[in-house]
Amino acid sequence: MVLRINKKKSVRENSKRHFVSYSNPSSQIAEQFRTIRTNIQFSSINKKHKTLIITSPSHGEGKTTSAINLAISLSQQGDKVLLVDANLRRPTVHSTFNLKDALGLSEVLIGKATIEDAIVQTQIGQLEVLPSGITPPNPAELIGSKAMSQFIKEITDEYDVILFDSPPVLETTDTKLLAGQCDGVILVLTSGKTDREKAIEANRLLNLVRAKVLGVILNERN
Ligand SMILES: Nc1ncnc2c1ncn2[C@@H]1O[C@H](COP(=O)(O)OP(=O)(O)OP(=O)(O)O)[C@@H](O)[C@H]1O
Ligand SMILES: [Mg+2]
Repeated sequence: MVLRINKKKSVRENSKRHFVSYSNPSSQIAEQFRTIRTNIQFSSINKKHKTLIITSPSHGEGKTTSAINLAISLSQQGDKVLLVDANLRRPTVHSTFNLKDALGLSEVLIGKATIEDAIVQTQIGQLEVLPSGITPPNPAELIGSKAMSQFIKEITDEYDVILFDSPPVLETTDTKLLAGQCDGVILVLTSGKTDREKAIEANRLLNLVRAKVLGVILNERN
């Protein structure tokens, strides 16, 4: 699955990019996220892919933008979707959804908040969001903890799809730890920018933890 998301840069559009599937459902980008959605469904015929992690080799390649648009696209077809900001190092989902100082995944994992307290409902279909919460000193430990596997187990039955936004796979161990626990991985690459070697290495590292790369989003930045 290789998809091209071609978006011209402008200040106004930049602020809307994360929500383009919602604000402009007839746009080319929204259509491409529907195609990704369909491809995920086709790849799920024999095994249900409920927990998906969105990652990329390096920083700033469009993981969060892709995760949010995919979450919106899935919720628009009636799925109950949870978007989890598992990028505990450079989280941005809370600011994108205007959830300043919200409780989040960190508090849930250290037992300072319940899942119900931390999950936020959005105005978009059945899309719910779990922000990152406070930035912990030990993100990899938290993501690799028993509390995290327990959390995944608990939420799996509550949603049709759970999408995890994550840090770059080449730069942290968090993503590998989480990818090994998810049903599938969507790899975001920047068209013309991501080194071939980095993309291959990311794929190799994900294979090492037996993560299943379901497809690649080719994010084209102009
Ligand atoms: N196709 C695109 N065209 C232009 N700008 C884009 C495109 N995709 C993403 N961006 C912009 O690039 C920046 C980084 O995108 P995003 O936050 O989605 O990347 P990321 O991989 O999540 O970054 P990080 O590694 O820091 O978490 C954002 O300002 C976003 O609006
Ligand atoms: Mg991000």
